[in-house]
Amino acid sequence: MRIYKAKDYADMSRKAANIVSAQVIMKPNCVLGLATGSTPIGLYKQLVEWFRKGDLDFSEVMTVNLDEYKGLSRENDQSYYYFMHQNLFDHVNIPVENTHLPNGMEPDSEKECRRYTELIQSLGGVDLQLLGIGHNGHIGFNEPGESFDKQVHCVNLTESTIEANKRFFASAEDVPKQAYTMGIKTIMQSKKILIVASGEDKAEIVQKAFFGPITPQVPASVLQLHNDVTLVADEAALSKLSE
Ligand code: GLP
Repeated sequence: MRIYKAKDYADMSRKAANIVSAQVIMKPNCVLGLATGSTPIGLYKQLVEWFRKGDLDFSEVMTVNLDEYKGLSRENDQSYYYFMHQNLFDHVNIPVENTHLPNGMEPDSEKECRRYTELIQSLGGVDLQLLGIGHNGHIGFNEPGESFDKQVHCVNLTESTIEANKRFFASAEDVPKQAYTMGIKTIMQSKKILIVASGEDKAEIVQKAFFGPITPQVPASVLQLHNDVTLVADEAALSKLSE
């Protein structure tokens, strides 16, 4: 695993955006696996800025997002569909038909999971998968204890994830209890993985995930087994590594 140490959030965002833009430049019709959460927002801003300067072209890029809440419509400002449009898709020249997310409004989980798994396969797999990391080590919505052997599936969110995400909703009751997510197996099939982390509150989990034992109790620890992972994190998120 390569680890890039950034000074702060802005530096992390720029360094990570450089890796995404290198991918787009080297393979203009690449498949990007995208993530939501607060951590990648600065990275998306940077990509938009470079697009506006004329340095990046998304016209042939395909995207597949990691996850989506089950039960939220595209219009809901907390849906990941809405997030991706707000933060990236509406500001660059990516054709909307090239962008893909699980459909949170599909009530038949089995059907939706099959559709999304087959879609990713039909695109030829993900060239570069971007990931954030949850406080309990979740990636996408793969919570602690989940088997490493799953493709796209529907999960029940843990209390800790509902708690962490409730800041975006009116109350904890409004946070959906389920989500569709790429499984660990789907994530591990990506050719390259870029994981971003920022802030002192991520320091402990970053230490555990990348320097602790590989266990389903810390879903991100599986990334130690992937042969092309880059972690871009700021000093605060890496502060427990030197201990
Ligand atoms: C959510 C998302 C994850 C994300 C995590 C961390 O639960 N499903 O993909 O990595 O939150 O988010 P943040 O970057 O806001 O800490």
